[in-house]
Amino acid sequence: MSKEKVTRIGVSLPPDLLAEFDDFMAQKGYATRSKALADLMREALLRHEWEEEDTEVMGAVTIVYDHHTRGLAARLTDIQHDHHDSIIATTHVHIDHDRCMEIILLKGPVKAMRTLGDRLISARGVLHGKTIFVATGNEP
Ligand code: NI
Repeated sequence: MSKEKVTRIGVSLPPDLLAEFDDFMAQKGYATRSKALADLMREALLRHEWEEEDTEVMGAVTIVYDHHTRGLAARLTDIQHDHHDSIIATTHVHIDHDRCMEIILLKGPVKAMRTLGDRLISARGVLHGKTIFVATGNEP
């Protein structure tokens, strides 16, 4: 634990929101509301800063899909070719007889990369999808 100085604040919240937040905290394993709130605030601020500056990021989009879904594999390939200059690599794994997992590595401005991730994840027939980003530290 750092010896960072802290400021105490009072926050007024609707009771059901607080109850839901306490459940969320417990599930995530937070011991205090302060720590949980501080983490959420940092995440929101970082996200805001990235959006404002359209920060360059590297990202990984993971999707799981059923390759029997008509036209889906071709559709996913088309989307990737539309963005060939942002896509660094794609790894395809055959999970079982029906399902495939693809990890698509991206690099580019965060807004366009988020849109690209959303396009892949929202393609009809994609069962699960998730995108993670990390800032490259390069100037936009
Ligand atoms: Ni496959």
